[in-house]
Amino acid sequence: EQAGKGEYDHFMLKEIYEQPTALAQALEGRIDPENGRIALENFEPGTFADISSVQFVACGTSYHAALYGSLALKQAGVQSTALLANEYSVSAPPIGDDTLVVAVTQSGETADTLNAMRHAKAEGASTVTVTNVVGSTAAREADEALFIRAGPEIGVAATKTFSSQAVMLTLLGQRIAADLQGEVPANLESLLPELEAMPDSLEALLEQSDAEAIAERYENSQSYFFIGRGLGFPVALEGALKFKEITYEHAEGFASGELKHGPLALVTPDTPVFAVFNGVEDEKTLKNAEEAQTRGAPVVAVCPDGHRAVDIADAHLAIPETEPDLAGLLANVQLQLVSYYAADLLDRPIDKPRNLAKSVTVE
Ligand code: G6P
Repeated sequence: EQAGKGEYDHFMLKEIYEQPTALAQALEGRIDPENGRIALENFEPGTFADISSVQFVACGTSYHAALYGSLALKQAGVQSTALLANEYSVSAPPIGDDTLVVAVTQSGETADTLNAMRHAKAEGASTVTVTNVVGSTAAREADEALFIRAGPEIGVAATKTFSSQAVMLTLLGQRIAADLQGEVPANLESLLPELEAMPDSLEALLEQSDAEAIAERYENSQSYFFIGRGLGFPVALEGALKFKEITYEHAEGFASGELKHGPLALVTPDTPVFAVFNGVEDEKTLKNAEEAQTRGAPVVAVCPDGHRAVDIADAHLAIPETEPDLAGLLANVQLQLVSYYAADLLDRPIDKPRNLAKSVTVE
């Protein structure tokens, strides 16, 4: 097992550092250099032309990737929603033969997600799975499978598969929007070069991260809060999930604007607030963060150098400049590192947290 970790102390850290490669593999051959369009192997242009709505189903970290994909698709003007797979049988919106259900599951074996996909299929929906495992149950049972090509992930807490899923869902979303609208979505032109630059942006981030120092600085805090807006919201949720999974400390993620509707009651000087900025309504997010800061909470801004939040925050985790649709994915990697180093300081069994399994094959 030690050999498999190479120079790293844990698989999780190795897998965090594998993300530039994982993303390059997810993108490989999927952007047509001729016309700059998204080319997904199993889907001819026009495949999704008759779809009227898209439902994403997933659990855990994959649910956060699904939420990311769903919000991105909504921004592109497509009716879409992300649902927890284990709630699907009791809370699914209407399903018809013009519904596309996208099951997001890195293992392809999560019982809740498989059941949701089977339910959708029985109701007449078309199904696609976005998965890491060729030959998995999800890949066999879905009408079509899109593979994220992240390579094996050993650490129970998902890292590189989240990033790869989110990128894959961005590509799929662009294809769906193009088919439905009969033209390439307006934001694709600016998005494409940034998508292609993601492996390099991540490499730059990983070469110089202050996450370890920040984990040390806020060790012994009472609770850890994560806030974000728009596509930063699923990143805040994922930041908190990762933190609680591997440190066993209390962490929660909120939509930035929700902080004042309840969670602010929990804020003290012992509750650092990690604020994700992605270039969309950042002024509002900054105001929300300052409301916590006024109550004594240290604010850690996750944003590019030179961002206004850096001057106001107590600490800064830098991300390279990119498109708003991708900034959250870079922020997420900084948050993965903070969780990792915080768990390491506490001497937790990072790759195998108590009570958790890599994939849960029971309901
Ligand atoms: C388990 C793991 C989580 C994972 C979830 C969904 O609960 O501990 O890390 O996000 O399953 O797994 P999947 O394979 O469907 O992505």
